[in-house]
Amino acid sequence: MYHSHDEADGPASGGVPPYERGAVSPEAGADERQIEGALRPRGLDEFVGQERVREQLSLVLRSAQRRNRAPDHILMSGGPGLGKTTLAMIIAAELGAPLRITSGPAIERSGDLAAVLSTLQEGEVLFLDEIHRMARPAEEMLYVAMEDFRVDVVVGKGPGATAIPLEIAPFTLVGATTRAGMLPAPLRDRFGFTAHMDFYSPQELELILHRSAGLLGVPLEEDAAREIAGRSRGTPRIANRLLRRVRDYAEVRGDGRMSLATARAALELYEVDELGLDRLDRAILDVLMNRFRGGPVGLSTLAVSVGEEAETVEVVAEPFLVRSGFLARTPRGRVATPQAWAHMGLTPPPDAAFGAANGGSSPGGSSGGGGAVVP
Ligand SMILES: Nc1ncnc2c1ncn2[C@@H]1O[C@H](COP(=O)(O)OP(=O)(O)O)[C@@H](O)[C@H]1O
Ligand SMILES: [Mg+2]
Repeated sequence: MYHSHDEADGPASGGVPPYERGAVSPEAGADERQIEGALRPRGLDEFVGQERVREQLSLVLRSAQRRNRAPDHILMSGGPGLGKTTLAMIIAAELGAPLRITSGPAIERSGDLAAVLSTLQEGEVLFLDEIHRMARPAEEMLYVAMEDFRVDVVVGKGPGATAIPLEIAPFTLVGATTRAGMLPAPLRDRFGFTAHMDFYSPQELELILHRSAGLLGVPLEEDAAREIAGRSRGTPRIANRLLRRVRDYAEVRGDGRMSLATARAALELYEVDELGLDRLDRAILDVLMNRFRGGPVGLSTLAVSVGEEAETVEVVAEPFLVRSGFLARTPRGRVATPQAWAHMGLTPPPDAAFGAANGGSSPGGSSGGGGAVVP
């Protein structure tokens, strides 16, 4: 099964149970996708931040257009809510090409993929979300399709089965993954370009917030935008969601204007702390410090202790905790840093292990300057 274009904002991530865990989950809830659709930038020039990715992508697209060819296949890797789906739609829009959307979990057998591939139009952009969750047999079919624009359709069963090669139209695959490391190398190698999506700086998030407030038609004051941006974990999806919560609060309890005071009161109500840490983050730090003396502790043990899937902890909570300097990943497991002890108001035991305090948190590139989220 695949999703057609007009379901673009529908359940593109089928298979992953949406879990509700407060205002700062980077995953989109079911009813949230429609609102998100309205806030999505439509072109590269409207897309805020990710300077390097934008410039690289713009070159790839322009040069393909010049040569009148479908551009190389593009892989986007980065955490949830950083703009992968948005970029995929922008790629199709910039190329003036039709867009087909499907996702790894929707492809359970190679036949599912064959059905999509064999009906692509020339130049079509195929967006394969969560590509790392695709069924193994389909992967092999995808290699061939990406490289030779061919699908081998197997007819019959057992020893009598034959593969009939079927030409398919040249297309551009846009794959998205939160876990690039889980992609088999042969698949990764077939992408001509990989866009690494980074967390956004508070300044970039402010721009996004002002843009969204404009689209929602609600007045947002400068210092309120700064406050919301600082608690958004470097993630546009979270920024937009917190904006809507602050808007609700302003409309019901205030005069509709989003001021600093309204923003603070609303965010406190939704249990988003000054650094954007939410319940899961705090639960992880709490378990790590109070039950495991600060670690090191393995990912799966940590996940079980907070009642979450290991993947959720690894993809959703950990990158932000590491980047903020609260958690260090060491060969022996996860370790709470001195900042974490301080943030939780606890004193580490004298024999506590610390990883390198800022391990992995150094801001990279123009979009990385997360000054305000680092204590
Ligand atoms: N660079 C950006 N500029 C403006 N808004 C963005 C940007 N990136 C993401 N968003 C907003 O954040 C929301 C989530 O983005 P999305 O592309 O769905 O993330 P992902 O697919 O990586 O989970 C979208 O509704 C979009 O409006
Ligand atoms: Mg997405």
